[in-house]
Amino acid sequence: MRLLWALCAVLFSFQQAFAETAGFIRSPMSQTKLVGDSAVMHCEVIGNPIPEVQWWFIEGDEPNETASQLFEGAQHDRVHINTTYIQHGASTLLLFNLTFNDTGVYECRASNDPDRNALTTLPKVKWIRSQANVIVFERPVIVVSPKELNNQTSGTLSCNFTNPEIPVISTFWEKNGKVIESTKKNEARSYIEYIISKVETNSGKYTCVFKSQDTQADATIEVKSPPNIVAHKHSENANENDKAVLVCDCHSYPLATDWNWIKIEESGQEMPITNGTDRYLIKSTPYNSTLTIEDLNNEDAADYKCTGVNELGNASDKIHLRVRSRLAALWPFLGIVAEVIILVTIIFIYEKRRKPDEINDGPGRLAVINGTMNSAVYQKILKENVRPSVCDLKLK
Ligand SMILES: *[C@@H]1O[C@H](CO)[C@@H](O)[C@H](O)[C@H]1NC(C)=O
Ligand SMILES: *[C@@H]1O[C@H](CO)[C@@H](O)[C@H](O)[C@H]1NC(C)=O
Ligand SMILES: *[C@@H]1O[C@H](CO)[C@@H](O)[C@H](O)[C@H]1NC(C)=O
Ligand SMILES: *[C@@H]1O[C@H](CO)[C@@H](O)[C@H](O)[C@H]1NC(C)=O
Ligand SMILES: *[C@@H]1O[C@H](CO)[C@@H](O)[C@H](O)[C@H]1NC(C)=O
Ligand SMILES: *[C@@H]1O[C@H](CO)[C@@H](O)[C@H](O)[C@H]1NC(C)=O
Ligand SMILES: *[C@@H]1O[C@H](CO)[C@@H](O)[C@H](O)[C@H]1NC(C)=O
Ligand SMILES: *[C@@H]1O[C@H](CO)[C@@H](O)[C@H](O)[C@H]1NC(C)=O
Ligand SMILES: *[C@@H]1O[C@H](CO)[C@@H](O)[C@H](O)[C@H]1NC(C)=O
Repeated sequence: MRLLWALCAVLFSFQQAFAETAGFIRSPMSQTKLVGDSAVMHCEVIGNPIPEVQWWFIEGDEPNETASQLFEGAQHDRVHINTTYIQHGASTLLLFNLTFNDTGVYECRASNDPDRNALTTLPKVKWIRSQANVIVFERPVIVVSPKELNNQTSGTLSCNFTNPEIPVISTFWEKNGKVIESTKKNEARSYIEYIISKVETNSGKYTCVFKSQDTQADATIEVKSPPNIVAHKHSENANENDKAVLVCDCHSYPLATDWNWIKIEESGQEMPITNGTDRYLIKSTPYNSTLTIEDLNNEDAADYKCTGVNELGNASDKIHLRVRSRLAALWPFLGIVAEVIILVTIIFIYEKRRKPDEINDGPGRLAVINGTMNSAVYQKILKENVRPSVCDLKLK
């Protein structure tokens, strides 16, 4: 055991005494991108002392290649470098808004030689290097048809990926930024379609996506419909003196640009509701509208119609409001009281009628009634169980 400890100590002191040259534990990866994309590269090195990490960009071919070091904020602030030296060196190179000119070789260099940056002395140990290629392509042209689906009941959307410089590996459609799972296809396709059978309830922003290994290209088609207005609840109950909150939602694209509310009296008469008047408060967003009625009374019980308007038209839904009078809260209680009274009455009447009858009809007692009454025990039972009048009668 002691030997083992000694060995450990020796090894440890070795590590302290002899510098350990730098080595990569993570190297940057080559990638194919489109103009405007971002690229991320990682580089991690170990060594003792912890090696310094640098990033270089190499342009052109040998022997005419030129190498330039990349710094935070270079290339009009499109280059960002985040390096940490905790236990080992770890650095991330981020390139934003790529252009054609960013095509080239990116090199991660590392060294922990004390002379690594000295200008006069050559370092004993050179910088170690790890390279990755970044190729930036022009964005592909995606021809969409139609450009916009407007005021139609149904339609077919299509996307044609026309200059496939980058290889497509999968395709899918998105609606309002959410992937439509059923459209996912892991195939190299350059033309895809999506059929909308009912635009009214499916309007939105549709995007076709063509994915390659490291990047993706997409195009968007707007499918517009008149508003699709749906009340949260079609009937609401509220108590007198409380407030009622009626909500309608808009589920279409474009969303509602304007909302209004109408009260429909029982007579069928329509009365527009103005925000801020007579206990009414209307709060509207493009997604929904809320009508709040304060301090309810009987006359507020009615149908309320919410109408949402967008550039293609308008649509409404209705909410029926019931107002319970304050006494209404008592009804369940009164009901229970009435029930109890009726129950008690029934039991009472039944009990009253049952006892004499049973004495006449009950088979167990027949012997007592019809038999001779000379047994003291029988007479006692009779006295206890039969009303005095009947008892007297029978005992005669
Ligand atoms: C390198 O540059 C020289 C002079 O600028 C040119 O003559 C030569 O063709 C270049 N070589 C390559 C491989 O580009
Ligand atoms: C730099 O990287 C470290 C470790 O990965 C991370 O915690 C930190 O948030 C990064 N800083 C910036 C400015 O990105
Ligand atoms: C990306 O670069 C182009 C020109 O190269 C510029 O017009 C555009 O505004 C940049 N975009 C962003 C998000 O910086
Ligand atoms: C790319 O480089 C060329 C020549 O160096 C330059 O003229 C051009 O403006 C650069 N383009 C971009 C988008 O930076
Ligand atoms: C897609 O575009 C290409 C080139 O413009 C054309 O030749 C091809 O017919 C188109 N495909 C479809 C299905 O429209
Ligand atoms: C109604 O009035 C309230 C306050 O007076 C205001 O906050 C609200 O935005 C108004 N609603 C509409 C739809 O104008
Ligand atoms: C109305 O829509 C807004 C925006 O989406 C949301 O924050 C709010 O909760 C909605 N209100 C109701 C009553 O649903
Ligand atoms: C929508 O279509 C209907 C009939 O197809 C037409 O009457 C109406 O004017 C159209 N509305 C718009 C805004 O194009
Ligand atoms: C809704 O549309 C109808 C015709 O389609 C029109 O008469 C009415 O004024 C519109 N209502 C609103 C609130 O825009």
